[in-house]
Amino acid sequence: EPWAILGTVVQAPVFGTISLVQQTTVIVEDGIITHMETAADGANLLVEQGLQASSVLRLQDGEFLCPGFIDLHVHAPQYSYAGTATDRPLMEWLGAYAFPREKAHADAEAARAEYTRLAARLAAHGTTTALLFGTMHRQACQELALTFQQRGLRAFIGKVCMDRHSAEGYQETTQEALAETEAFLQWIEELGDERIQAAITPRFVPTCTPELLAGLGQLAAKYDSAVQSHISESFDEVEFSQALHPEVDGRDIELFERAGLLRNRAVMAHGTCLTSAELRRLAETGTAIAHCPLSNFFFGDRLLPVRDVLALGVKVGLGTDVAGGLDWTEAFWLATQGGAAALGLGNVCGTLEVGKSFDALRVDTQNSAAFDVFAADTPLDAFQKFVNLGDDRNISTVWVRGQEISKTP
Ligand code: GUN
Ligand code: FE
Repeated sequence: EPWAILGTVVQAPVFGTISLVQQTTVIVEDGIITHMETAADGANLLVEQGLQASSVLRLQDGEFLCPGFIDLHVHAPQYSYAGTATDRPLMEWLGAYAFPREKAHADAEAARAEYTRLAARLAAHGTTTALLFGTMHRQACQELALTFQQRGLRAFIGKVCMDRHSAEGYQETTQEALAETEAFLQWIEELGDERIQAAITPRFVPTCTPELLAGLGQLAAKYDSAVQSHISESFDEVEFSQALHPEVDGRDIELFERAGLLRNRAVMAHGTCLTSAELRRLAETGTAIAHCPLSNFFFGDRLLPVRDVLALGVKVGLGTDVAGGLDWTEAFWLATQGGAAALGLGNVCGTLEVGKSFDALRVDTQNSAAFDVFAADTPLDAFQKFVNLGDDRNISTVWVRGQEISKTP
């Protein structure tokens, strides 16, 4: 049954520019946007499409319809300690916090409980698509996929691969990592849900031998799968790569490229220590960067010059947290269309237009829990305040493929 929404639509089809169109009617059928029209009362389109008043949702003043947010870098098993454990440089931090906590996800039931809360939290904050790292365990990764599927979110799930320099009891042989990854890819295929896909996930160069990377590159080609990893992310990580691979001066990109892991729908997190020449290689191969400003602040040792990176033709989206130092229009684009393009979903979501999936948020700027809107504020000012200061209390409804997503764990 078709239904309609009538109100102000805000989106960022082009980096750095905002489109705000009032009195727009959006008609959704089978989760896809079939019509969009701007007119004083939208009545013509509604009559033309034979829509009853009961299937028309009219937004109030101060409310907006915008595309759902796309998070390009989430470590699902780190959700239970988000907001803590920020006191060590990356390579120490992994041993002290990340590996021990991830290792516990051998218990798939416990993992499921954590992932259920994560999915609820992401939905509440307007994330409609997430690119997720799970853990090494295929079972827990399947629970992660099922959790997101049940909630109706769009997700790319990665079974993490590590065949060296991880932790006691949390490491695989090269063959195990490849076999488990292939089994996971097949399981996701059998799930047969367009919204849930697999991402081939070598954790990063320090924990993956060149043999493992090469095997994963072959799987990426065979299954035409998305890929995710971390690349040149901090001084200590670059040093570690240098010690392991003096033959390429520790340049992660060289090892990924040799393995065939630079490709469309490959998303590399951070990249703060990449050179301009390396960034050009990412652009040439269609590889995207997940820009993670908050994590870069704690671990990255450098900032990512996002505008320069985009100017080199690299695809960039946001990994959890809106960017300080970015103009809000640019941050909003990264969180929507930029992320969609990075995942090969440029024609599926990221903006609201005819033919795309209705992955959208109803934004209420009248709830003053997080910020105030004053009489002198234009609608664009109100929406800007939401992007810069708002939170889950300003997001009243979240849809993926036209389906309303529950926000309760
Ligand atoms: N590099 C390799 N693993 C990780 C991780 O879990 N978090 C971050 N931020 N960087 C990583
Ligand atoms: Fe990460």
